[in-house]
Amino acid sequence: MLIRANDAIPDARGNSNRIALSHHTPAESMPDPLSCTDAPLACQQIIRVVEQVRLARDTYRLRLAAPDLAEAVVPGQSFMIRAPGVTNPLLGRPFALYDTWLDGAGRPAGIDIVYLVVGKMTTLMSGWTAGDRVEVWGPLGNGFPLPTPKRLLLVAGGIGNTPFPAVAREALGQRVYGRRPGIDDGSSTGRSETERQGDGETGRSISPTPPLPHSPSLRLPLTPSQITFCYGTRSADYLAGLDDFAALGIDVRLATDDGTRGHHGFVTDLVDTWLEDAREDLEESTRKTERQRDGETGRNISPTPPLPISPSPPQASSLKPQASIFCCGPEPMMHAVAKLAAKHAVPCWLSLETPMACGFGACFSCVTRVKQPDGHWDYRRTCVEGPIFPAEMLAL
Ligand SMILES: Cc1cc2nc3c(=O)[nH]c(=O)nc-3n(C[C@H](O)[C@H](O)[C@H](O)COP(=O)(O)OP(=O)(O)OC[C@H]3O[C@@H](n4cnc5c(N)ncnc54)[C@H](O)[C@@H]3O)c2cc1C
Ligand code: FES
Repeated sequence: MLIRANDAIPDARGNSNRIALSHHTPAESMPDPLSCTDAPLACQQIIRVVEQVRLARDTYRLRLAAPDLAEAVVPGQSFMIRAPGVTNPLLGRPFALYDTWLDGAGRPAGIDIVYLVVGKMTTLMSGWTAGDRVEVWGPLGNGFPLPTPKRLLLVAGGIGNTPFPAVAREALGQRVYGRRPGIDDGSSTGRSETERQGDGETGRSISPTPPLPHSPSLRLPLTPSQITFCYGTRSADYLAGLDDFAALGIDVRLATDDGTRGHHGFVTDLVDTWLEDAREDLEESTRKTERQRDGETGRNISPTPPLPISPSPPQASSLKPQASIFCCGPEPMMHAVAKLAAKHAVPCWLSLETPMACGFGACFSCVTRVKQPDGHWDYRRTCVEGPIFPAEMLAL
């Protein structure tokens, strides 16, 4: 059976995000002549659970066998998941890509989803075991843009951490995701040449892969020290996937509401500190450049007057070309992060977790309000035109 609904929507990376959904059942039960790799970017399939692992309190990683989906997906995209042959719950539920996983030959073999048990579907999911069948459609939505500035701040509240292992891995040049002009290295496996060679030499099957110093695949791979991950939860027992983030080597900063781990308070406090530090670093490097320039031109104007540091207001455009923020979590937290980003003029992208019904643009149950150039607002569908939007575009 084949269902297609084509639509051309520019995604966060400026590419056309065609919605083409095919219904695809597993080869062993009902062979379908249309492979997901033949045309559609989004497929509906019934696939198998490989494993289920508890990561934190009420939080699990579900590993699914789906090479087609693993080859197609990019960080920030999501999948709709439901139990096949079941009408309660009737609707699928959306879950972000946590990361792809690779087979022994280094090829994308499937997807990892990390979820928090909050209600009917997630309770059902927590009972799934290896071999169970799951109905999945995706990848859906636009994905995060490729980070090009010198610093990338990832901000997560609660289960909003889930898109970020893949985001960080891509930014580090450790893995190539999806089939995109400008990022795909031309291989059909979705992995960079260096990464495949690396695994072949060591015989390792999957991540963590060491960072590639000069990945040909990303326009601008970042180093681990250029990526900071600020992650806040209610308490320490909800912090999920810390080992995965540590393995990436990035700067991880934690906050808990009750002070049981990391900063005692909101994750937005960490964001504020990071932005202030970034601004001071930038001002210091500006002073250094000016001193060098004055030295070269022979001008003698020492000592250089210090640039104002807090509490003076930040310079409006100071951090703009230097940093960007990707954020996912509860709406009040994202609102607060968006305000901080605006204060420091840092481009900020928010990943919305709007409840969804169809997931592919047909039902309009997932709309969010976006600002229009004329000052008014209109609706956009989170499932196809999001879930990632520039913060300044949203009417939160
Ligand atoms: C694009 C996208 C990506 C997502 N990625 C993840 C992910 O990676 N991991 C993860 O755990 N969750 C993720 N979510 C949220 C996830 O879809 C919901 O937690 C899930 O639908 C809950 O299903 P349920 O049947 O267990 O809960 P339900 O029985 O449907 O609801 C239980 C309670 O949760 C509330 N609720 C349900 N969905 C949401 C929501 N989206 N926002 C606020 N409250 C809600 C309901 O109002 C109700 O009070 C994502 C959502 C979106 C839109
Ligand atoms: S969930 Fe149906 S249009 Fe978005």
